[in-house]
Amino acid sequence: MKTIVAMPGDGIGKVVLPEAIRVLEASGFEAEYIHGDIGWEFWIKEGNALPERTIDLLGKHKIGLFGAITSKPKTEADKELAPELKGKGYVYFSPIVGLRQHFNLDICTRPCKAFKGNPLNFIRKDGKGGFEEPMVDAVIFRQNTEGMYGGVEWTNPPAEVRAALETHPRMKAFKEVKSEDLAISTRIVTRPATEKIIRAAFEYAKKFGYKNVTVCEKPNVLRETSGMYLQIGKEIAKEYPGIDLWDTNIDAQMMWLTKNPENYGVLVSENMFGDIISDGFAGLVGGLGFACSANIGDEVAVFEPTHGSAPKYEQLNPSIVNPIAMILSACMMLDHIGETDKAEKIRNAIASVIEEGKVKTYDMMKLRGSAKAIEEGAATTQQMTDAIIAKI
Ligand code: NAI
Ligand code: MG
Repeated sequence: MKTIVAMPGDGIGKVVLPEAIRVLEASGFEAEYIHGDIGWEFWIKEGNALPERTIDLLGKHKIGLFGAITSKPKTEADKELAPELKGKGYVYFSPIVGLRQHFNLDICTRPCKAFKGNPLNFIRKDGKGGFEEPMVDAVIFRQNTEGMYGGVEWTNPPAEVRAALETHPRMKAFKEVKSEDLAISTRIVTRPATEKIIRAAFEYAKKFGYKNVTVCEKPNVLRETSGMYLQIGKEIAKEYPGIDLWDTNIDAQMMWLTKNPENYGVLVSENMFGDIISDGFAGLVGGLGFACSANIGDEVAVFEPTHGSAPKYEQLNPSIVNPIAMILSACMMLDHIGETDKAEKIRNAIASVIEEGKVKTYDMMKLRGSAKAIEEGAATTQQMTDAIIAKI
């Protein structure tokens, strides 16, 4: 029997993760779930939102299901720390970023697939006075550990950093700027990590029958980092006859996805660009209530909805948030461990609840999120889960 480390985290993470486990159980997937501590309450109590014991659990069992965490700015974080821990040098660090870095979860996959009948699907005018609803089916591969979010950055850079940068002719433009007036964030891209994410994208395209892989970067301006993506994309594409390599610029891609999103299949990008296009595509298929993701490393993999802890809704009882993003993330876990038939069973159940259109959470009805949404006809989180389970 598989052991899954269940890390609900904060806010609605605590609501949606147990719902996903109910669905997993209903699908016939047998597993033991071990609770992993993570999130804001452990920052407050222990000065660490990602306790060592949770890292040990994941290192041992390899598969994690994660809800969401709450992060707050530095001053608030310091204020909420337990009195006995204050002033002892504790610095808040996002535990999900911590997990990605600790276990080198460098392959992030974010499928954005429209469900037929979802009232939140993208539509456009058809030019004949009506509307058309293209079925979006895009899967974004985002490099998850380096690039723009690699964390190598400074305000007021040390003299040796400045001196090193000044060996580049383009730094002349900043010659007169005082160091304390300089903020620098780097975009470091490496060949091995780039090869790995692009290969993962092509492998996925091959496995699931997508006809193209789009490298979405900006090589005409970011000549080195985006240039490396495109170069490696061309090299790897040669190994996959029958799958076309497309390349788009990030800015143009944001425009294309609002015009003809159905043309795109698998897309691959550096960390920040992948973050941006995956949010863009998620918006076309229903937004945060539907956006699932996988963070996959060589040994450990963690599956999570892309939404956060939505503290506004944390206290609502019954809860109103949409559990589908979390449940779809659990399906990605099943795919990863080879239980594809159960994943398909669950996805089909979700598809049929949505198509039937009788049970809808508040977001699917475009209602304001509040307890009143239930009076207005919205399903609770639990009712949505029950409807999915009934279809299984
Ligand atoms: P959020 O994703 O928590 O919520 C934004 C809004 O999206 C909500 O107010 C709600 O209207 C909607 N929403 C989110 N999940 C939904 C669901 N399952 N069903 C229906 N509607 C849903 O983002 P926000 O408000 O920017 O951040 C709240 C906290 O979450 C912050 O502390 C932030 O740092 C953290 N966060 C954590 C993430 C993670 O754990 N991976 C990701 C994003 C934010
Ligand atoms: Mg994001």
